[in-house]
Amino acid sequence: MIARVNWVDEACRKTIDKIERTSLSIGASFPNGSAQGRYEKTPAHDWVSGFWPGLLWLAYEETNNVRLKELAVECERQISQTLWEFEQLHHDVGFMFGLSSVNQYKHIQDEEAKRHALMAASLLAGRFNPAGGFIRAWPNWGGEDHSGWAIIDCLMNLPLLYWASREIDDPRYRHVAELHADTVLREFVRDDGSVHHIVSFDPETGKRIGELAGQGHAADSAWARGAAWALYGFTLSYSYTGKEKYLEAAERVARFFLDHLPEDKVPYWDFRLPDFGKDTPRDSSAAAIAASGLLDLAVAVQGEESKEYRQQAEAILHSLYNHYGAWEADEEALLLHATGYYAADVYVDAPLIYGDYYFVEALLKLKKL
Ligand code: GLY
Repeated sequence: MIARVNWVDEACRKTIDKIERTSLSIGASFPNGSAQGRYEKTPAHDWVSGFWPGLLWLAYEETNNVRLKELAVECERQISQTLWEFEQLHHDVGFMFGLSSVNQYKHIQDEEAKRHALMAASLLAGRFNPAGGFIRAWPNWGGEDHSGWAIIDCLMNLPLLYWASREIDDPRYRHVAELHADTVLREFVRDDGSVHHIVSFDPETGKRIGELAGQGHAADSAWARGAAWALYGFTLSYSYTGKEKYLEAAERVARFFLDHLPEDKVPYWDFRLPDFGKDTPRDSSAAAIAASGLLDLAVAVQGEESKEYRQQAEAILHSLYNHYGAWEADEEALLLHATGYYAADVYVDAPLIYGDYYFVEALLKLKKL
């Protein structure tokens, strides 16, 4: 058993101190991945835009530093403007508005932010295809027809729908979320607990066409971050609905994820590659996402299973803190060695803002346990 109190407290202190420092240079902008020690910025409609305000709110909770709150509020203002860039938007409004507008409403009771989040939830629900029972992921980017594509990551956008249903006391959004989660459970999760990244459906009939590699190595491989999204996403659907089928799915994916980790508990970017060598890139973001999901899973179950999930999450976070942290380096990010999109050569073996977000989220959960 790792001596938890000391390292977790120390890691929380270091990460929060670093966010306070880097907020001076990052300001109210939208970091994506880091290159040469500095975060590259992306427009407010990019799927990652919620993670920096999300980090600012996490740090604000710990410090009460008003400057962090003001930066988060300015980020939310910019993200809310994207509601008028309707054609650019996509299913990841769940990440974007959940981490910015919903957080803002929760922390400072901002009714305008609540309205933005409800509009985003309506937009997300509007992407639902009733013939196939799935939420369409993306617009036709690059001229490619995406009208029948659903992706595993979308499980993480469903909490915006569950939240909206509770907020306005109307089950419609929850129904959409559950119908999508049921489709993902049926069509994406393999018997061994690994998952597909993209499944394509005929948008007219809803019939499954087939699966695509997406950001994974191949259609039949096991993209590590996809598994992490599924583990955490099904756990969230269970915690919002209490439906055992989502808990069983989360546990099946968690078993696959944990059984395929290398010794240092941080996965290679895909669990099924033709060969693994010492230069195969890791994905520290997948490790951070899975650790945060495992801590929720540990709360959802009892006894030995709960203990195991918590210990595994702790071991992952300990390894990230000790071997993947950018504590001494001249680097704005917190975690090194993530992989964004290997095949497109986008942020391979680089820091990613969502790796940082889930690392801090998980550390703070662990501290509070
Ligand atoms: N498509 C979201 C991700 O890279 O995980």
